Amino acid sequence: MRKLVAGNWKMHGLSGDLGEIRSIAEQSLDYPGVDVALCVPSILIERAVREVPDFAIGAQDVHPAEKGAHTGCVSAQQLHDAGARLTIVGHSERRAAQRESDVEVQAKAEAALASGLDVILCIGEALPVREAGLAVETVVAQLGNSLPGALTAGTELSIAYEPIWAIGTGKVPTIPEIGEMHDALRALLEQRFGSAGAGIRVLYGGSVKASNAAEIFAVPNVDGALVGGASLKAADFIPIVAAAAVEA
Ligand code: PGA
Repeated sequence: MRKLVAGNWKMHGLSGDLGEIRSIAEQSLDYPGVDVALCVPSILIERAVREVPDFAIGAQDVHPAEKGAHTGCVSAQQLHDAGARLTIVGHSERRAAQRESDVEVQAKAEAALASGLDVILCIGEALPVREAGLAVETVVAQLGNSLPGALTAGTELSIAYEPIWAIGTGKVPTIPEIGEMHDALRALLEQRFGSAGAGIRVLYGGSVKASNAAEIFAVPNVDGALVGGASLKAADFIPIVAAAAVEA
């Protein structure tokens, strides 16, 4: 499967960083076998799209409603209108800080897909769950409860497995742990969506960097990465894209 390497800029990025987005977009062209995207703060989306119109710019969250009295929120249609091609939903930082439930994440995914946005749906366990030996069953249940009811023609759903304890910490699960989780997630996707489930990309996220990307991408059922800190600079991000190209 073609790999997807998506950057999550979180709450980073000002006008002065548009040049970095341009560098990432231009250097990604050297790896035509890999899909590359950057999910930027919503306030930057339109300017980023103007800067790099042929490159996939995405959002980091979306409100499930079409429109209405939701102060401070952004709808899928508004993101699409601004030029976004995709959005992240259910990132653990939002599940924690904004107390987003699986049901809300599911509604967000469905709203985004219905508006023509691709979706990266995030799931992952906290450290005590991993230490208790419950990571696989917990994350499989979380995905089962967060998945949209159906896939939407013309849009793509991807999953990002991101252990909470690996995000921004420099800690990464072992290769067998990543493999075990991704195999279990693949099995659920096939059970839910049949043969279409075999084509859903399952990304790994959490402290991915140039030095560990190649071994992570070599794991079966790892179809790319969601990258936080190492996506902010082309010099850090492009080597990860290059590693994905080798494993494509
Ligand atoms: P990180 O973040 O690469 O900085 O660990 C990943 C993420 O939260 O998506």
